Amino acid sequence: MKTIVWKIDPAIEHAPQIKAAAELLKGNETVAFPTETVYGLGANATNDQAVQKIFAAKGRPSDNPLIVHIAKVQQLEDLVEEVPEHARKLMEAFWPGPLTIILKKKGRLSDSATAGLDSVGIRMPDHPIALALIAAADLPIAAPSANLSGKPSPTTAGHVANDLTGRISGIVDGGETGVGLESTVVDCTRAVPVILRPGGVTREELMAVVGEVREDVALHNPEEAPKAPGMKYTHYAPDAPFILMDGSVRFIQAAIDQSKSEGKKTGVLTTEENKDAYTADTVISCGSRKDLATVAAGIYDALRTFDESGTDVIYGEVFPYEGIGDAIMNRLMKAAGHHLMKE
Ligand code: TXA
Ligand code: MG
Repeated sequence: MKTIVWKIDPAIEHAPQIKAAAELLKGNETVAFPTETVYGLGANATNDQAVQKIFAAKGRPSDNPLIVHIAKVQQLEDLVEEVPEHARKLMEAFWPGPLTIILKKKGRLSDSATAGLDSVGIRMPDHPIALALIAAADLPIAAPSANLSGKPSPTTAGHVANDLTGRISGIVDGGETGVGLESTVVDCTRAVPVILRPGGVTREELMAVVGEVREDVALHNPEEAPKAPGMKYTHYAPDAPFILMDGSVRFIQAAIDQSKSEGKKTGVLTTEENKDAYTADTVISCGSRKDLATVAAGIYDALRTFDESGTDVIYGEVFPYEGIGDAIMNRLMKAAGHHLMKE
């Protein structure tokens, strides 16, 4: 399959490229596009064959439902039974933005998109290209992250091209995404909203709008079965064993030295503040501790870079479970297969 790439500068006229990409979506083909979180791989959410092309291109397990993306709130009418009060408040506060809301589904949606569930996750992305593309296609667009299943989510069109060239019909290249981690997934089918996946909107921000918010117990207990089917897969894992290190630079350097003495090529995932303090084969800073949003934005690119460097073992620093730190630690713990060493 030939993969067309449209390079778009959002600041200049891009209507013709958006129209061409939208035509592919209308023709039930797959197109990757940027959102404010990560790149998505889109297809017509109302057509089963179109949606199955997403699962085939990614190698995604068919029991893992997709998020349906919309450009206007009116699109909800055809997709969900009802919008409860707390869900409406969350939409008003955070859409367009990195929040996926699970509601009871109805009607037109492909059963493959929702993996046969009676609910659907919906989000309105906060990115001019994503919104323009969805509006031009005039369809609800099913879109998981545009990576091969198991790889870190893509934050650049280059990441998408590395994983999916020849497997999808098009890539709209709109530059780097902003948040760098996926949306927060909140189940609004219950009386109290439940966070199934931490992400770009923090627990604190949700609570400020709707008061009480629960968290899926599986988020802090790897023995429990998660409510979001996708959360059970060992996503985001780099090729080399990855170990999270809760302790000082000295503690982490001692572990690096031990691995070196065993003849291993070592890597460390660190931050601007500590990057000059380590001696390892590959030292990658993913951002600054003073602004955890920079860490969120840099983490997936850092994990992909380790794969290219041929490291045998990677040690990673930990972050506080506050604000966007919740989502950062969720993804790092998954990447590490919950392998954490304490000083
Ligand atoms: O930021 C994002 O959310 C990105 C961009 C492209 O929008 N998309 C994304 O999609 O991360 P994906 O497919 O990689 O992750 C969707 C997550 C999975 O964990 C899936 O199991 C969960 O949402 N999910 C989707 N629909 C669900 C439903 N009806 N019930 C429970 N979990 C659901
Ligand atoms: Mg994904």
